[in-house]
Amino acid sequence: MAKKSIIDELHEIQSLGGKNYVDREKAEELSEKTKIPEAKIYGVATFYTMFSVKPRGKHIIRICRNLSCHLAGAENIVNKLKEELKIDFGETTEDGEFTLEESSCLGMCSVSPAMMIDEMAFGNLTEEKIPQILKKVREGDKK
Ligand code: FES
Repeated sequence: MAKKSIIDELHEIQSLGGKNYVDREKAEELSEKTKIPEAKIYGVATFYTMFSVKPRGKHIIRICRNLSCHLAGAENIVNKLKEELKIDFGETTEDGEFTLEESSCLGMCSVSPAMMIDEMAFGNLTEEKIPQILKKVREGDKK
């Protein structure tokens, strides 16, 4: 059986505990298991934006801030998200549900403005769609 890459291991660590981050203790355990220095593991965890070493919300919202999305009105979407969630970039909602992050191009320029919530892609966003999308994600948690 093929060995898992550090990236795969970090994804697994991050998915544990519902806080979407690479816990220091788990990184130490991974270091012991793989014999890879902890600094290197932490280096990978801090290099890639998909990982965080700080606790985050259950769902990560990544809104694209690149040119196509900007020209298509991403700023209005950003403002609506901030208003609905009552948080700024890098922050997590009080209930621990959502963390809001900026992203570079998500590869969905043809349907800009665009965002991802976890692995789900949303394009052709309008301010009106934001409350519905957030509601659906919250409801999905209850199923
Ligand atoms: S510029 Fe936003 S998805 Fe490409």
